[in-house]
Amino acid sequence: MKNLLELIETPSEVLMGKIAVYPGSFDPITFGHLDIVERGLECFNGVILAIAADIPKDALFTVHERVEMAKAALSNMPDVVVESFRGLLVNYVAKTKATVILRGLRATSDFEYEFHMASTNKNLNQNVETLFMMASKDYFFVSSRTIKEVASLGGSVTGLVPDCVERKLEERFEMLRKKKRG
Ligand code: PNS
Repeated sequence: MKNLLELIETPSEVLMGKIAVYPGSFDPITFGHLDIVERGLECFNGVILAIAADIPKDALFTVHERVEMAKAALSNMPDVVVESFRGLLVNYVAKTKATVILRGLRATSDFEYEFHMASTNKNLNQNVETLFMMASKDYFFVSSRTIKEVASLGGSVTGLVPDCVERKLEERFEMLRKKKRG
């Protein structure tokens, strides 16, 4: 058994061996999300990207589509599993081998929402810890919501989402425009 000083000298051992659940709506997955997954893998042995099925009805993509896009985007990362979940996140986490919820933080505006969510989850299950990772400078402004807005107005989202997501956004908004025209 290592003492604390030895552990501090080899910090990766503190977290290594653990699996983190990275939950979200992922409507759709962006390079900001992929960046958190990649950096999460530097701290954890595996990451479960957990896509919430029960999100508001105004989601652009079905849960099946969101899972398929995430799987395609993460196909080169063998230590990542993509799943969907229903109901409470802490119940889903308890069913996996994970004890950590991983979330990305962009600006201070994210903080209040994240703080409430982490506190609620802690209150529901004391054994689950939420860890936050700051968004990297290249992606701190990227959110699924703004990606959808830009794409819906014909703007470019190249370099902000994987190619398969970019194509899917184009298809979806083209379909919605046609539907609107009647
Ligand atoms: O990407 P998002 O929309 O910020 O993700 C939010 C998400 C899906 C992680 C959150 O809404 C969630 O955990 N939903 C599952 C229901 C739940 O457990 N609610 C209690 C925690 S607030």
